[in-house]
Amino acid sequence: MAVAISLPRLKHHIETLSSYGRNPDGRGITRSCWSPAHEQARAWLLDRMKAAGLETRVDPAGNTFGRIGGQGSAVLTGSHIDTVPEGGPLDGALGVLAGLECLQTIKEGGVATRRPLAVVAWSDEEGRYGSLFGSRAFTGKLELDKVRSLRAVDGEALVDAMARAGYDASRVGEARCDPRTIHSYVELHIEQGPHLEAARLPIGLVEGIVGIRRNRLTFIGEPDHAGTTPMAWRKDAFLAACEYALKAREHVVRKGGGRSVTNFGRIELAPGVSNIVPARAVLLQEMRELDARILARLDRECAALARTVSRRRGLRVEIETLSRTEPARCAPRVMSAVQAACETLRLRFKKMPSGAGHDAQNLAAVTEAGMLFIPSRGGRSHRPDEMSDWKAIERGANALLHTLMRLAG
Ligand code: GLV
Ligand code: MN
Ligand code: MN
Repeated sequence: MAVAISLPRLKHHIETLSSYGRNPDGRGITRSCWSPAHEQARAWLLDRMKAAGLETRVDPAGNTFGRIGGQGSAVLTGSHIDTVPEGGPLDGALGVLAGLECLQTIKEGGVATRRPLAVVAWSDEEGRYGSLFGSRAFTGKLELDKVRSLRAVDGEALVDAMARAGYDASRVGEARCDPRTIHSYVELHIEQGPHLEAARLPIGLVEGIVGIRRNRLTFIGEPDHAGTTPMAWRKDAFLAACEYALKAREHVVRKGGGRSVTNFGRIELAPGVSNIVPARAVLLQEMRELDARILARLDRECAALARTVSRRRGLRVEIETLSRTEPARCAPRVMSAVQAACETLRLRFKKMPSGAGHDAQNLAAVTEAGMLFIPSRGGRSHRPDEMSDWKAIERGANALLHTLMRLAG
């Protein structure tokens, strides 16, 4: 094989990046976008890009780019360097650092490509403020009139978080790209699920990425004395939320598309003390599905279910959509390039959907976009022990390298 990435260098970069935002006591990495840990990681990344000889740029939405090969429409790769709270070292970081490694390999190897190449770390992929913030801004999908009112679940306003990091939220609209400047997009990511490991296959060739709905449901009952109010009289918001959560889960499993999923990631009760019947319960719910029509139907049906459960218990419910990401199909040209790269490297692969959301699904609206996966140990992700074998990482990065060389000509 003529050109190949340097695993020791990539490993060193992955290990170094994982030190930013590392929590004590084995509680993984917390590197939310705009946080001090994230901004230190961004500064480190820019430094690494410059050291590798890339031209760098950070756009007004905080997307961080490194580029080689001059002007013209570029082949873009990348992922994100933010993490979920108490997350692991590879989700996002792999795609950015492997992308950097590929560009550095191409540059150092003097490989001539017809098109420029760029690597990007998209801002706030994990959705502290909705999901896939940076790639939505880049592809014109961000609702700019809502930017000023966006708040994280901990209450911090986006405007303040960005200002602390040195950004002006009123300028995020300027991050919108001119699609003519992008030739294609390919993202390397860990699978985050168990299928590749179970099939003992090194590469997943992604066919499509699920759409995601995030909703906030507020069940509104009545506060009452927890000792004196007869059980049958209570309008308990917690119990309505519980009944809804169990029924919604069952509904999504029974009436979804087979792989449809739902999750409740947060519940907040108010007034929030043990001697008052909960008057309000706020639930954060996600639903994911590859088929846009099924996703829209499940969203409607779950909303109806929440209203029915509330009515029967004498409560009401308010439902607010927090973010809507549509499913995307991967582009045949990018899939063929990944497939050809696997054949060159004699890596077996299987076609598969992505159950996680990725920036690639936004890029699919402005360019030909695709993805490749490597196996995740035990299928674990969004947790501290998220990991992949170094051999698997090397294979994935080399498959990305050959995909990029094909796309860039
Ligand atoms: C991104 O990690 C997601 O939530 O799918
Ligand atoms: Mn990710
Ligand atoms: Mn993630």
